[in-house]
Amino acid sequence: MVRLRAPAKLNLYLRVLGRRPDGYHELETLFERISLADELSFRLAPQGLSLTCDHPTLSCGEENLVLRAARLLQRVCGVRQGAAIHLTKRIPIAAGLGGGSSDAAATLLGLNRLWRTGCSIRQLCGLAAQVGSDVAFFIHQAPFAIGRGRGEQCEPLAGRLPRLWHVVVSHDAQLATSQVYAEWDASTSTLTESAPSITMSVHALRNGSHDELAKGLYNDLEPAAIRRCPIMRTIRGLLLEGGAAGALTSGSGPSVFGVCRSHPHAKRVAQFMRRRGAPTWTIRIAWTAP
Ligand code: C5P
Repeated sequence: MVRLRAPAKLNLYLRVLGRRPDGYHELETLFERISLADELSFRLAPQGLSLTCDHPTLSCGEENLVLRAARLLQRVCGVRQGAAIHLTKRIPIAAGLGGGSSDAAATLLGLNRLWRTGCSIRQLCGLAAQVGSDVAFFIHQAPFAIGRGRGEQCEPLAGRLPRLWHVVVSHDAQLATSQVYAEWDASTSTLTESAPSITMSVHALRNGSHDELAKGLYNDLEPAAIRRCPIMRTIRGLLLEGGAAGALTSGSGPSVFGVCRSHPHAKRVAQFMRRRGAPTWTIRIAWTAP
């Protein structure tokens, strides 16, 4: 049996450069892998693929990215064996935290080991890109990476980088990524000429400067996500009022995260959010996954 953790991600920076002829959007983004994680186990089966999950509403049908990734690897590598996959879900669904993409990446990594298919990281990234735009980032298993193209062209950041502390707020709204991009298309207010550059965020990260990093937090999808889900504005405002150095929507939302300087700082901000936030919000402390 193979067991793997599938971590969530935050986008510390996300700039939409434009719509592409294939309908996707050209991006420049800074990914961070965080401690909040699902868990997957993979057991050999004589044939066939099965998926079970502890989550009451998540579909385990063919549209689940775990099964799509498993079938793709099986077909491309001509694998005759099957697998029984179990998913323990902790990352909120359709929350902008990359849970489904990370599960798919863990499936490619886990089954590559279980079936001894011997694919390289580069080959797995090629398969990952066919499953979803964010999947390749999780194949690299790097704490930080720059994503370009649809997000699938990933360049992990090398060298010693600091651990960041966050307060991540999720709530019961779900946002479909495609809808948020469509809203971005329809918007005339998203003029990105004055956006900070990704280089500034990477520089701040390398220098371990939380305040500079907080200044560079940027997400072109945030206005579109907030238009669909206005409570996110309140959450972002409260994170700042509670003392976070900066706050931003992750990916296409609706999760919002704060950047903190240390674990005690994150605890103070989380306490404030628990006191002032709605009872339906889930407030978690998360940190850069090693
Ligand atoms: O690639 P993935 O399946 O995760 O994308 C979900 C949806 O998000 C796409 O169908 C597309 O509508 C939108 N998307 C986009 N540009 C990207 C990534 C996603 O338009 N770079």
